[in-house]
Amino acid sequence: MKAVFPGSFDPITSGHMDVLTRASRIFDTVTVTVMHNARKQGRHLFTLDERLDILRAATGHLENVGVDSFGGLLVDYMAQEHKGIILRGLRAVSDYEYELQIAHLNRQIGEVETVFIMAATRWSFVSSSMVREIASYGGDIREMVPRASAEALRLKYADVYEERENAAASARPDTRTGAQESAAEP
Ligand code: PNS
Repeated sequence: MKAVFPGSFDPITSGHMDVLTRASRIFDTVTVTVMHNARKQGRHLFTLDERLDILRAATGHLENVGVDSFGGLLVDYMAQEHKGIILRGLRAVSDYEYELQIAHLNRQIGEVETVFIMAATRWSFVSSSMVREIASYGGDIREMVPRASAEALRLKYADVYEERENAAASARPDTRTGAQESAAEP
């Protein structure tokens, strides 16, 4: 059985990776598909090409996982070739209402089934939008995203991270010369 894991992936998080890795052990193949809309392009932090590059780097070790993109309705994408089922992750009950509506709509307009995998509880508070928010202030997001996403976010906010690191370095006591200790001595 084939599965398609659709999303915005702006960028892919550790929660996505958890769902994807577990799905790759269940399905014959899983295609991670960035769904994009040319009219909404400006609303994303990463361009479509950047998101695809990050996804390829983050999923390269998963042999039966591929990466793709599509600009249009998900049911139209699913109707091409033999795409199988839609895979979505659920983090918390709050995701359920939205996902239920989309799953029902996709079955109604495209006769496509959706299967859900519950993300591990440690990722229940992690979302791409929160990760973007933390990174925009130079915060540490390395636990919450795969390395490729972390590197891309660091590059995107290079000036913010640099400023934060410089501030942290200048707040540290100078341990090379012991200048602080000797200055404090009478
Ligand atoms: O990562 P996201 O933003 O939760 O993913 C939502 C996504 C992209 C899967 C959904 O918005 C989608 O399928 N968009 C494609 C357009 C479409 O088919 N819309 C009808 C169902 S809402």
